[in-house]
Amino acid sequence: MQFPEYRPRRLRKNANFRRMVCETRLTVDNLIYPLFVVTGKKVKKPIPSMPGNFQMSVDNIVLEAQRLKELGIPAVILFGIPDKKDEVASQALIDKGVVQTAIREIKAKAPDILVITDVCVCEYTSHGHCGIIEKGEVANDVTLEALSEMAVSHAKAGADMVAPSAMMDGQVGAIREGLDEAGFETLPVMGYSAKYASCFYGPFREAAQSAPAFGDRRGYQMDPANSDEAIREITLDVQEGADIIMVKPALPYLDVIRRAKEEFDLPLAAYNVSGEFAMIKAAAAMGWLDGERAMMESLTAIKRAGADMIITYFAPEAAEFLRRTGRGLNP
Ligand code: PBG
Repeated sequence: MQFPEYRPRRLRKNANFRRMVCETRLTVDNLIYPLFVVTGKKVKKPIPSMPGNFQMSVDNIVLEAQRLKELGIPAVILFGIPDKKDEVASQALIDKGVVQTAIREIKAKAPDILVITDVCVCEYTSHGHCGIIEKGEVANDVTLEALSEMAVSHAKAGADMVAPSAMMDGQVGAIREGLDEAGFETLPVMGYSAKYASCFYGPFREAAQSAPAFGDRRGYQMDPANSDEAIREITLDVQEGADIIMVKPALPYLDVIRRAKEEFDLPLAAYNVSGEFAMIKAAAAMGWLDGERAMMESLTAIKRAGADMIITYFAPEAAEFLRRTGRGLNP
């Protein structure tokens, strides 16, 4: 194939040609929407760095789940913000916890949407780390017990899938074992397999009030410079029984998403994180980018890189865009 015999522009000539040769189509089926649950009633508090996203009490979470269902979004992922935090994340494990309550209410009043739960203690610990602290360090194996207990408690409340994000070694295996022992052998686990120590989580930490009080997360989350290590991390999750693997964040790590897609044959999720969302919103608010096109281009790129599903704060807007236009970005 050579110029002038081959002229790629021939098939870009008009919208119908472009439609026919389009290789990647984002659909609403690919989208998972994160929700932040707080205690109280009638709470719907805007998250300043994430326009259109809110901390919501359970009553509003239910209304939101109903709206998302109407938009055709297949799943939500829940993050809980308790009103009391302590050293050992007690509020994460109780049957009346925010997330457990939200799961029950969504299941009762908006049953036809999947409820995934984030399994990590950072929103529940007074120090904001993703594990239990012993001798000044995040203690891996003690944390595994808490994560497993938390996952079982979500399962008992009716969660459809659990997603461990603490980056503790062995977390998928510990949770799989805990779930199986409790009779939840059919409940899938989505591992945050390759999760990087990223500054792009900034807005989320504001939303979830989970910034670490001392130190940072580089002792358990991955170095952004590494991608062979991502393959080792994902391999462990697969061996430990993960049903879905994940790369997080998404846009700065499209190469890692592509490698994961090529090297593993499990469904692959990518987390288009809070900072990725905030950047586009901020630029759009300044009039520097067309926010809607930037959203669709980003989500399409994440899918093109190899993600089967995308966790994104854009989910409702993207679903509305897809409904309105009947298609993705193209033509
Ligand atoms: C919990 C968790 C975090 C995110 C998802 N789960 C924060 C963190 O690891 O600091 C970030 C999501 C986002 O930025 O959108 N461990």
